[in-house]
Amino acid sequence: MQIRRTLKINSPTTIRFLTENAAEQIPDFTAEIDQTSIRYEGKQTIIYCGIGKADHCTTATLRSAAARAAQSVQKLKRTSVACIVPSLSIDPVETVRAIIEGICLGAYKFVKYKSEKPVPIATLDLVGATASPGLIRTSRQICEAVNYARDLVNENAGIITPAYLAKEARRLGKNGDLTVTVLDVKSLQRKGLNLITAVGAGSPTPPALILLEYEGAARGRTKTAIIGKGVTFDSGGQNLKPTGSIETMRQDMAGAAAVLAVFSAIVKIKPKLNLIGVIPAVHNAIGSKAFFPGDIYTSYAGKTVEVWSTDAEGRLILADAIAYCRDRYRPAAIIDLATLTGGIITALGEVTAGLFSTNDELARNLFDAGEKTGERLWRLPLYKEYSDSLKGDLGDLRNLSKFKKGNASSITGAAFIREFAGDTPWAHLDIAGTAYNEGSARGEIPQFATGFGVRLLMSYLGI
Ligand code: BES
Ligand code: ZN
Ligand code: ZN
Repeated sequence: MQIRRTLKINSPTTIRFLTENAAEQIPDFTAEIDQTSIRYEGKQTIIYCGIGKADHCTTATLRSAAARAAQSVQKLKRTSVACIVPSLSIDPVETVRAIIEGICLGAYKFVKYKSEKPVPIATLDLVGATASPGLIRTSRQICEAVNYARDLVNENAGIITPAYLAKEARRLGKNGDLTVTVLDVKSLQRKGLNLITAVGAGSPTPPALILLEYEGAARGRTKTAIIGKGVTFDSGGQNLKPTGSIETMRQDMAGAAAVLAVFSAIVKIKPKLNLIGVIPAVHNAIGSKAFFPGDIYTSYAGKTVEVWSTDAEGRLILADAIAYCRDRYRPAAIIDLATLTGGIITALGEVTAGLFSTNDELARNLFDAGEKTGERLWRLPLYKEYSDSLKGDLGDLRNLSKFKKGNASSITGAAFIREFAGDTPWAHLDIAGTAYNEGSARGEIPQFATGFGVRLLMSYLGI
């Protein structure tokens, strides 16, 4: 989508945002949040979008209204649209950003397997936008990254293998500032990343550890690492998932997709920072070579792990990925994103991701980025009792807590991963509820893959 700043309306289709007060002259339109109405006035088609009371209107209201407007534009099959940028009490730059996000993200649909494809919106004119062309470009590039993450998650698990994710990383690495290294199964074995190779053992498509290094600032400046769970399909392994749980498990690489997407935006925007990306990529399969429940495996960090469920595989691959990342890069902070537990859906629904951290400042900054972007987080505790419940009998740790089945599974999952973060400030985002929307579209959040985490991380990184 091309986005331009204009002063005049050059398109027969126009989006207008209206507050309740401003809507008084429009018949049969009260401008409540969620209200959208298409009117024909002379040669113009006007899409009115309600944004409620002026003093309650936030960037989230605007983003969501713009998304609904984009969906109306698509229903009308219009390929160009003008949008009058409203002047509100919100910062004008944030207003523009929210509108771009709403339209670019709201227009997204995964149509690869649909015989009938919608007409894409080719141009968006922002009428009266005060934001700089640079900001407009950056916002668009971030949205394209979100849609890229969505495409990766929505695509068939038969296509999105560990090798495919590695190929995508290498493609991004063609850009000069990004170095991509892929550890194949042989090097994983040689280096002792045994938890990753154990989880990947049952699949005909071998595991990989994908490493991305972006150097946009001076060498030696602080490096943040982002790590994404890349289970390209989670069958549960020998603890096979039942019907009702297994169908959506191609989403289990949504953390990896978010990490790749962040780098896809970074190589275009070229911010002055250093960033490490790590993706443990595996297919958790059932089969004659699959790893065994009850067995004990030695992790890269040296701690031994009793496998009580092959379906609690995310924490296993993250444990090795985090330990290896610390060893190799010594990052100042590690943030992992993982569709880790069904429990987080019980706790926070599809609306909010779980936040766990060993560092209050890191947690606060992530929380703030969540509030700003609308990709919201809520922090949960990591008290000692949770860690105690993970002590092994024959090995050092067990991958399931001793709590009653399912109790506090998101917290004990996080507490397990923490054992491998050492003294590196670390945060874990459990995105199992927010990465995939099984309901219908909600504003800028489409049905199925949502691309959750990309805007959040970009905002956290100050972009
Ligand atoms: N990938 C799943 C978690 C998941 C569930 C993601 C629903 C997205 C939607 C994860 O590997 C898993 O199976 N977790 C188990 C953990 C349990 C065995 C402690 C779960 O949540 O049931
Ligand atoms: Zn699982
Ligand atoms: Zn999983």
